[in-house]
Amino acid sequence: MAQALSFVRDTRMAGANPSPWRRAWQSLNLRRRRSIRDDNRRIREKAERWLAVSPPDRLSDAEIAEQSNYEWDRYESDIVGRRSLYESRPVEETFPGQTVPLLRDLLAGDPQIRTVVEIGCYYGWVLDLLAREHPQVEFLGIDFMKLLPEINAEFTAPNLRFCAGYALDLLERGEAAGDLYPTCSTITRFKNAELRRYLAAVRNPGAYFVINEPLFHLPGDVFVHPDSLPSDESLAVVHGASSADMPPCFIHNYEAIFRECGFNVLHYRIYVPKFTVHPNYRIEMVAQRR
Ligand SMILES: C[S@@+](CC[C@H](N)C(=O)[O-])C[C@H]1O[C@@H](n2cnc3c(N)ncnc32)[C@H](O)[C@@H]1O
Repeated sequence: MAQALSFVRDTRMAGANPSPWRRAWQSLNLRRRRSIRDDNRRIREKAERWLAVSPPDRLSDAEIAEQSNYEWDRYESDIVGRRSLYESRPVEETFPGQTVPLLRDLLAGDPQIRTVVEIGCYYGWVLDLLAREHPQVEFLGIDFMKLLPEINAEFTAPNLRFCAGYALDLLERGEAAGDLYPTCSTITRFKNAELRRYLAAVRNPGAYFVINEPLFHLPGDVFVHPDSLPSDESLAVVHGASSADMPPCFIHNYEAIFRECGFNVLHYRIYVPKFTVHPNYRIEMVAQRR
């Protein structure tokens, strides 16, 4: 199947050099190095504090409840902003829309794909677009918030549903089984063992993940290449928008983890998006369950 898909290409190193840490570090003065060390220590300590209280392979009930129960005023202006962004530019020039060409290729190239499940969909503009293009396929968006259906009330394609909940529970209980799982900026929030548990819950051979995740930089704008990390030790990072009380995000060695969990990697690209001023690298990867 993979050979028939037009997106399969070797772009492994496009735009990204491994481990630029040493070069960047040497060019800094002592004061800057000290402040970067302090920032890095704070990130490590924050991650350690969180990992000491959160179960390694899932979120605690309290964490899930906290993310589920926000009221409408938390989302309202953000949704208005997202809607006008999507209306003003091609979908490929948005973060969640960057993998639309890959998803279209897969949907056109593999008729076995009957169900698409997005983990952490939030506002489902991209799901709605694809659902209208592929009326024969069922689309399901999952996110924590109890208000998920209200957030997405404008999307009325008959083959599109939204389900509030912790995606791992829904997958493990068999309530959300997909042939294709797209993600955007969501797996970066999973702990290493939690990600592995998701992959174990996807049992149907041939099922795809299409991941589109940020590779947040460390203080000092240091980029750590995911391939340079041990597969069982993801690196905690903090991005500018996260508040002090938010858990850190992670850079995972995505390719190694997916392979170890029974997936073939069909496509892998690390790049800086052209449509944004944010200089952070991202990873785009297509993996298929063996
Ligand atoms: C950074 S947002 C990205 C939202 C959307 N994919 C986008 O790119 O616009 C990450 C989303 O994933 C959701 N999320 C993270 N982990 C999740 C999980 N285990 N189950 C359900 N939703 C999750 C969060 O609530 C949040 O809405």
